[in-house]
Amino acid sequence: MQTHNSDDRWGVVQQALHWLVALAVLVQLAVGFTLAALPSDSAPWGGLFPIHTSLGLSILLLMLLRLFWRRSNPVPRLPETLPRWQQGVARGTHWLFYLLLIGLPIGGYLLVSAFGQPIPFFGLKLPSLLPESESLQGIIWTLHALGAVLVVALILLHVGGALRHEWLLKDNVLRRMTPFFPERGKGSGD
Ligand code: HEM
Repeated sequence: MQTHNSDDRWGVVQQALHWLVALAVLVQLAVGFTLAALPSDSAPWGGLFPIHTSLGLSILLLMLLRLFWRRSNPVPRLPETLPRWQQGVARGTHWLFYLLLIGLPIGGYLLVSAFGQPIPFFGLKLPSLLPESESLQGIIWTLHALGAVLVVALILLHVGGALRHEWLLKDNVLRRMTPFFPERGKGSGD
């Protein structure tokens, strides 16, 4: 098992970060959409809110770590048989994920700030960065909600692409991102 990425495989560190962030994002989306559906003075809302802010800031830190690791490692090439436009869609999707998963938590931080509240982070209270403002609340809330819907659409596109590689194209694109999943032509027997 290799720690670092190579030209044809993701290393264990990038794989672990990928699946940790994927799980965290799914939980975060479920918590976020539940918060949006609950009255903000209800007890369940009060219980879920610090989970949402703490998980969101954790996703931000993990994405920054991931970006740092990606920039100090090779990025595996996509199969040369894949048309260039499809390679472009795949790379574009990945960069949009980086943009959104870094931008959304920063937006969330600013949103709570615009309510004049400190930001809960695993029992700590982080300082508000903006003056209380109703107009800012409205603008940032709309962007935050649109960003979340865009993440859902990207996940569907991304997972569809990964499963297409695995089931239709039968290459190693999903396997090289997945630990304990032997690559085709390297001992998997298919
Ligand atoms: C919330 C869920 C997910 C997010 C946010 C996410 C995000 C990302 C990002 C940003 C990359 C690019 C890695 C980089 O360039 O540094 C990536 C790669 C990848 N993801 Fe996901 N992912 C998610 C879920 C999944 C799932 C469920 C699958 C499989 C069914 C999957 C399969 C892959 C594969 C195979 C690659 C590597 C593509 C390549 O080798 O070029 N991802 N993912």
